[in-house]
Amino acid sequence: MATGATMQEHQGKARSELGGVVVLDFGGQYTQLIARRIREQNVFSAILPCTAALEEIRQYAPAGIVLSGGPSSVYDSDAPKCDPAILAMGVPVLGICYGMQWITHALGGKVEKAERREYGRAQLQVKCENGPSGSLLFLGVPQSLRIWNSHGDHVLELPPGFCATGHTDNAIAALEDPERKIYAVQFHVEVNHTESGTELLRNFLFRVCKAEPKWSGSAFIEETTEAIRTKVGQGGAICALSGGVDSTVAAVLVHRAMGDRLTNIFVNTGMLRKNEFRDTLEMLRDRLGLRVIGVDASDRFLERLAGVTDPERKRKIIGREFIAVFAEEAQKLQKGDAQGGIGWLVQGTLYPDVIESVSVKGPSATIKSHHNVGGLPENMPFALIEPLRDLFKDEVRRIGKDLGLPDEILLKHPFPGPGLAVRLLGEITREHLHTLQEADAIVVEEIRRAGLYSKVWQAFAVLLPVRSVGVMGDYRTYGLTVAVRVVESDDAMTADWVRLPGEVLERMSTRIVNEVRGVTRVVYDISSKPPSTIEWE
Ligand code: XMP
Repeated sequence: MATGATMQEHQGKARSELGGVVVLDFGGQYTQLIARRIREQNVFSAILPCTAALEEIRQYAPAGIVLSGGPSSVYDSDAPKCDPAILAMGVPVLGICYGMQWITHALGGKVEKAERREYGRAQLQVKCENGPSGSLLFLGVPQSLRIWNSHGDHVLELPPGFCATGHTDNAIAALEDPERKIYAVQFHVEVNHTESGTELLRNFLFRVCKAEPKWSGSAFIEETTEAIRTKVGQGGAICALSGGVDSTVAAVLVHRAMGDRLTNIFVNTGMLRKNEFRDTLEMLRDRLGLRVIGVDASDRFLERLAGVTDPERKRKIIGREFIAVFAEEAQKLQKGDAQGGIGWLVQGTLYPDVIESVSVKGPSATIKSHHNVGGLPENMPFALIEPLRDLFKDEVRRIGKDLGLPDEILLKHPFPGPGLAVRLLGEITREHLHTLQEADAIVVEEIRRAGLYSKVWQAFAVLLPVRSVGVMGDYRTYGLTVAVRVVESDDAMTADWVRLPGEVLERMSTRIVNEVRGVTRVVYDISSKPPSTIEWE
């Protein structure tokens, strides 16, 4: 399949005009958080692997460079390194944790293994030794700060030209060479546990780098719309729309640029939630004015899934079938298109997916095979438009709000691509799907009634092929089990089960057993992620 390189080149040009900050990743667990914290200050940030070439960094015309933390020691044989020339570019640099150790090592200071690992909270005393009075980084910040650390090695000797600007009981915790505009801290300014972390970052951005806060929702919408318009010319585009926040924001942005030359395809796999196909189509067409083809392909999905119980096989079958349906619809459209063909495919790819493939750590191991339309057949003549590939999820929601999307979409809980298939254990039958849809609708209704919908990450029902005995009226019953899953999370990487009030659980349980035929038992899932996952399959 053709790639979206040309589209990205265009976005690259706009990036260099933003004068943002490049974050070089040493494999730290907080690298994305650093980039988000910078963007919260309306300054654009991009993450590149620490091995990025100088030329690539220069393409961003950065106002500053941040070096992330990382798990290594500078003395490891495979210790990650940047090109030391970044320290002589004249662009301000802030090293964080491993970033500070690497700067020290690269510029002739000394780093040594600490006797005691510093992990968690510590107290920082701000102090400027040997250097010019006052530090721009610590301007206006209290002299004693609670900070958050996570490191083994520490700095023993400063590189020539540097002064120490902060200590903990154990070690030098901040250093700088204001002449060369190189700053470094041993602790994590990006985590909330560090007192005045935001002020320190703001000082670096606005006092040291003199960055301009040009990264805003409306600027992004204008620039992206213009970039799409210029790039796409008179051609047409298609988009696989799910009604979720990412694909809907992507479609609305592209629709602003292209109008009805964008056609969206919404596939009913038969594994959507109750009434979702009808309601979502109505919302996308009538309220958002999008051109949407609704394809009810539930029969063929269910046929392919007959007799299949293995979770990974279910996912693979659904992924493959989805692509087949989408490709068929795209071909039909292309044949019927009188205006010069459909050359573009819109995808709601987000920045974390992009970073994953550039990180020094490489793509992380697959725990479950998630699906999107990335696996279209080779011969489909599309180039990609990925208008959200620079954005984090919370930024997508903000852009969606600026675009006037209703809360029903912006606050909608994430829903997996394979849909209810991963919440219906065992074989998928029409009857069981119906049972699950009914139970799920009750869970969501009760969560809404309790005012909790926008406060939790996800709330849903799972149908277990486990029969147990019940008694209803004078009759003995032998029915299925529904598990209720409600979790809170920031990013789905970790999640905790929600301590729901007893009355809410009680209402859910009573209603499900009374209103959903064939269910005799309701259980509440009290497992966290890790070690469990959010979905059951
Ligand atoms: P797990 O179950 O891995 O889920 O803890 C993490 C988040 O991802 C969603 N999820 C998916 N999303 N395609 C998707 O688009 C998938 O195949 C898929 N599987 C899980 C899940 O709902 C949760 O929010």
